[in-house]
Amino acid sequence: MAYEDFVKQADDLQNILFNLNKTEIHLHLEGLVSPDTIWELIQKNNLHYDGITTKEDIVCKFNIKNLEQFLDLYINIIQSSFKSEADLALLFKDMGSYLQENHIVYAEVFFAPSKFLKMGLDYGLMMDILTEGAKIIQETYHAEIKFLVDVSRTFGLENAMSNLDLVLAHRVPPVIGIGLGGSEQNGPAKDFVTVFDKARAEGLHTVAHAGEDMGPESVWDTVNYLHAERIGHGISSVLDEKLMDYLAEKRIPLEVCPTSNLFTQAYASVIEDHPVKKLFDKHVNVTINSDDPSLFSTSLMNEYMLLFKHQIFTKEELLLLVERNIDAAFLPEEKKKKLKEENRIITS
Ligand code: ADE
Ligand code: ZN
Repeated sequence: MAYEDFVKQADDLQNILFNLNKTEIHLHLEGLVSPDTIWELIQKNNLHYDGITTKEDIVCKFNIKNLEQFLDLYINIIQSSFKSEADLALLFKDMGSYLQENHIVYAEVFFAPSKFLKMGLDYGLMMDILTEGAKIIQETYHAEIKFLVDVSRTFGLENAMSNLDLVLAHRVPPVIGIGLGGSEQNGPAKDFVTVFDKARAEGLHTVAHAGEDMGPESVWDTVNYLHAERIGHGISSVLDEKLMDYLAEKRIPLEVCPTSNLFTQAYASVIEDHPVKKLFDKHVNVTINSDDPSLFSTSLMNEYMLLFKHQIFTKEELLLLVERNIDAAFLPEEKKKKLKEENRIITS
């Protein structure tokens, strides 16, 4: 195909994709923070970080080479800049703009309280801010958001259980479940069985990052021991045929975040080598997400267009992937049906 024709196809697809009802199901609240907001916090709270003297330095700092480096900056720069519960309210303007710019109508957003609690912030007050934030997102930006509290694998079982106990002691409608993010190398899934069992018994949804920074055995442990409903990333599953068959048969969604994986470089350093297409071709239920869009300078629309422009997925496959994101969300079936029906009017 002539280059001009491909560019025209990409433009047409971008328009269609933008107009579709989209859901994003793997998105970290603190990873949505804009450089403007972090810069505002740095100045307001009189903070000093090595190598950050201008707003532009913030995104440059996130030019990381692996997950451990990323998490270090995430905890010690991004999260550390929020010095009060009220500081968290600043995130919702960034979130609203992000959702609007991508026409995302529903998002499930991770919130990781561990560092904030260690800094002395109060969980109940943080929940008040998050609840108010969800209301603002609905009223001002016409999108629905729910939270998954990332109990964290970085700080051990006791910390994760104590986070779950806080979730249970302060139940608020926007919080629908728990997630397990942080250091996959230092916090094996098996360590958190009791946390996941208790969360499930209490009626919470459970999801977990796995196969982002560790091999397929980490994904196996997550499905076998944690019984997580969805897997965050899960891309190392591509190395294990049996696992791909199992994930496909059980229809367990993988929340794939291509650009994020290119930054952390565990299983792909260039988009052409990313396992997402092979997983898709093996009938694994992949969904597409952005993870920490602001820190990785990406967005949900950018992820779809990246996959199209590099000819990893066709237009038809991307339209199917948009539906997969809707189906994998923790939304009532009637709501999913409505979103998909509205989309079919646009694509037909
Ligand atoms: N927290 C924020 N982003 C994360 C990621 N990509 N993996 C694990 N924990 C995270
Ligand atoms: Zn993540």
